[in-house]
Amino acid sequence: MTELKIVTLPDEVLRTKARPVTKFDDDLQTLIDDMIATMRAASGVGLAAPQIGRSIQLAVIETLPKSDEAGNDIPGSRELFVIANPRIVWESREVVDGVEGCLSIPGYVGEVERAYAVRVRAQDRRGNPIKLRLKGWTARIFQHEIDHLNGVLYIDKLTDRENFWTDEEYYEMRQAEAEAEDTEEDVEETAAPENRD
Ligand code: NI
Repeated sequence: MTELKIVTLPDEVLRTKARPVTKFDDDLQTLIDDMIATMRAASGVGLAAPQIGRSIQLAVIETLPKSDEAGNDIPGSRELFVIANPRIVWESREVVDGVEGCLSIPGYVGEVERAYAVRVRAQDRRGNPIKLRLKGWTARIFQHEIDHLNGVLYIDKLTDRENFWTDEEYYEMRQAEAEAEDTEEDVEETAAPENRD
């Protein structure tokens, strides 16, 4: 498997509507395997073909691992999807805000509102029709990747122009939030004994 070069903004291919996949031949199988290897090497959870410079409706997605009650990742709980010619056929009215990054916009993250759940029709790597029901982060990843196939990026959909940060800014913001929460807990702990008679 070959790792492919990931194209970044302002490459025009990222802004182009991708063509449908029509041939599920050996070349496509090789491309899919290379895309999976590229996504994993980049620690990504999804990669759309335009991101490696191919303007076709193809994406690979690997979900975040599920965690047990103690919060530890369950080995082997990641799920890999290959989707060709995907369409979102239903989306929930319920929406959720979440922070996304993109391998084609390195060094930044931003907050985006997405449908909480979606239903997708697509073809698998052999061209067989598939129907998927997705929710939560997996649904978010699917929406992000399907946007790529239409030349749409998450930066087009920010909840607010200000909700866009460098990785460092976001990290510092999260740290500050975590520290503020710790301080609140300390205050409660200190105050608690006085409430006891
Ligand atoms: Ni992306």
